[in-house]
Amino acid sequence: MLHPTYNIHKSYDENYQNGPMCDFEIPKRVKLKPIKLWGYEINSPIGVPAGPLLNSSYIKLYAALGFDLPVYKTVRTVERKAHLAPNCLMVKSNRQLTVDDIGNSIYPFDHEPQTTQEIAITNSFGIPSKSIEIWQADIEKANRFMADDQLMIVSCVGTPSENRNFIDDFVFCAQKAVEAGAKAIELNYSCPNVVSKEGSIYQDPVLSGAISKAVKKAIKDIPLMIKMGYIANEYQVLEILKANAPFIDGVSAINTISMQARNKDGSQALPGEGRLNSGICGSVIKNLALEMTKRIHKIRKQNKFDFVLCSVGGIVSLTDIDDYLQIGADIAMSATGAMWNPLLAYEWQHQKSQLHIRI
Ligand SMILES: Cc1cc2nc3c(=O)[nH]c(=O)nc-3n(C[C@H](O)[C@H](O)[C@H](O)COP(=O)(O)O)c2cc1C
Repeated sequence: MLHPTYNIHKSYDENYQNGPMCDFEIPKRVKLKPIKLWGYEINSPIGVPAGPLLNSSYIKLYAALGFDLPVYKTVRTVERKAHLAPNCLMVKSNRQLTVDDIGNSIYPFDHEPQTTQEIAITNSFGIPSKSIEIWQADIEKANRFMADDQLMIVSCVGTPSENRNFIDDFVFCAQKAVEAGAKAIELNYSCPNVVSKEGSIYQDPVLSGAISKAVKKAIKDIPLMIKMGYIANEYQVLEILKANAPFIDGVSAINTISMQARNKDGSQALPGEGRLNSGICGSVIKNLALEMTKRIHKIRKQNKFDFVLCSVGGIVSLTDIDDYLQIGADIAMSATGAMWNPLLAYEWQHQKSQLHIRI
């Protein structure tokens, strides 16, 4: 049975204020043989990537549910409202997306998913953010919900403005997160739902390398991850990784797949300017995300890069997690899957603990 924790029929603000929904009993955390990650011992390699965990209330719930690597939703140095509701619409899940689908039309429909495979959405929030003071206090609070064998990562993004250079804004954002107690930082280089340049940094080796270098210099020993989107061309992925590898401790991929969300009559499905394109995520992007994991893993091996590989995309069931860990991911995270199936980490951990007993 699915248990959505985010109400897609309500606004982002309502979910921020009143969420998460939780109509089920929280099972006791399952302890496994810990994994080593950046000098920490973590109970399991499972997390929730930036997005579904809007604030400390969500972090608290998902940490209790065994998502041992929760990522605090991307924050900015400026306050920003979310795009108008709805922010998430269900999409059909009868086939996996391919590279040829990227940028094409998709037709969301009204539906309550009944099975994990039906968990597939388009999402469009525009990276909302509270003021620095608010998110700093909330990050501090969220960290207090972490067990000793869990680690919260904070996702940051720079905002183009006249007041501060774009690279400096990334640095400022990461510094403020570290000041609030963030023990690891992720830089969001890949949001398809913003019209300005912070959405496509992951395709630019020079800019991404310069940001990673400046942020690493500022945050020193704090582990630094970058979040990438899907890139079909292996050479392009190599160029990006070469430019960033000296400065980073982890790569997280992928973000959502950009498509044009339309009503049946061809009109724009999500309200507001610049929102024809939105990000597809959930079960239907797994093949594209797996492909990207394979590509990054291969490049990492060939070039002896030593960053952690965090796989994201289409994880809705227990076998999805295993699929990633078997092809080279060090850690694996579920966003959309975990929104509807919050017991995913617990069930995977329970399965592993049973296997261990049987051996
Ligand atoms: C509701 C929602 C909000 C998201 N917000 C962010 C965000 O703030 N920053 C970010 O880097 N990715 C964000 N993402 C993208 C996810 O981190 C993830 O890369 C993507 O959804 C693919 O994973 P999935 O198939 O498990 O959903 C968001 C995703 C969802 C579903």
